[in-house]
Amino acid sequence: MTKPQIRPATGARYSRIHGVGGYRPVRVIPNAEVLEWIDSSDEWIRTRSGITERRWAGPEESVAEMSVQAAGKAIAQAGISAEQIGGVIVATVSHLKQTPAIATEIAERLGCGTAPAFDISAACAGFGYGLGLADGMIRGGNAEYVLVIGVERLSDLTDQSDRSTAFIFGDGAGAAIVGPSDTPGIGKLIWGSDGSQADVITQTEAWDTAFAKPDAVNGPGGETKWPYLRMDGQPVFRWAVWEMAKVAQQALDAAGVTADQLGAFIPHQANMRITDAMIKALKLPESVPVARDIAETGNTSAASIPLAMERMLETGEAHSGDLALIIGFGAGLVYAAAVVTLP
Ligand SMILES: CC(C)(COP(=O)(O)OP(=O)(O)OC[C@H]1O[C@@H](n2cnc3c(N)ncnc32)[C@H](O)[C@@H]1OP(=O)(O)O)[C@@H](O)C(=O)NCCC(=O)NCCS
Repeated sequence: MTKPQIRPATGARYSRIHGVGGYRPVRVIPNAEVLEWIDSSDEWIRTRSGITERRWAGPEESVAEMSVQAAGKAIAQAGISAEQIGGVIVATVSHLKQTPAIATEIAERLGCGTAPAFDISAACAGFGYGLGLADGMIRGGNAEYVLVIGVERLSDLTDQSDRSTAFIFGDGAGAAIVGPSDTPGIGKLIWGSDGSQADVITQTEAWDTAFAKPDAVNGPGGETKWPYLRMDGQPVFRWAVWEMAKVAQQALDAAGVTADQLGAFIPHQANMRITDAMIKALKLPESVPVARDIAETGNTSAASIPLAMERMLETGEAHSGDLALIIGFGAGLVYAAAVVTLP
């Protein structure tokens, strides 16, 4: 008797981004307001980070609410209905409930039926990780359309008295619909991690030590300390500048694309100086438009690439059908880069 064989799932030959959308919180926090919390100056913040203002979410602008708003725009641009979505991936490090994943609530609110929905934790590389998963799901035949969301309320994890982080982080959501394509729309993902540097961007402590045992940790009547994000800026800066330019080049090489063929460079909006150093290392021609959304948005981790992408398309800096190099990198440390066709 011949052994029964499993019929393999078969998917689309290629995938691409069909639509992108963003949500920016209403409240603008200019540098002047940050100066009420930390000893700094507008000039220092602008020259060291490129940030002039950031958006912080209000009580109504939850992780789910911002995601639903951003996803609605992406779905509309893709011209599909929510029922066609066969997977919802939410990249975030600031959904403060351990379980369930926020993705299921978002899928329900959007009307995605019984689509599989899950969260991933890959910090500022989260959108790229999600894109890679979506590409695999579509080409592997496990979904036709996948919604990838990058969303953060980093203000909830920011210590307003910490000079090294208070000025950097912002809140927001960005979403993309990934679906089948007749031509390649997402190049090989160059992704990876370096756990030896896990402590350079991290929460100060785990939830259990922070909350479950405040007396044991801080003594009877001790104060519960909120586990904020802490960052050792210089090693992060050095790693980003030296290592990430190489990763970006690998993504170009793997896609068979040269820097001068790009219609946009959309790096994670971590710091304007990191972006400038990468441009130099990549020898990016001046003609290639570069995302500089950080100036008004701050560093929104997983949301930063789709938010910057949406803005470049809206302002006409980049155009549908152009090739864009995206690269995300951050806490983990983790990274992900790819060449994509803009929706
Ligand atoms: C955070 C960052 C902007 C700090 O810049 P830096 O040049 O490394 O700053 P340093 O910590 O070395 O401090 C340099 C000086 O600025 C001062 N300084 C630090 N924070 C300051 C602040 N918020 N305002 C004003 N001065 C500040 C320091 O006291 C120090 O002063 P000194 O030279 O008199 O001793 C920078 O390290 C950085 O961008 N790192 C990468 C961060 C990043 O991208 N994170 C996201 C990754 S996802």
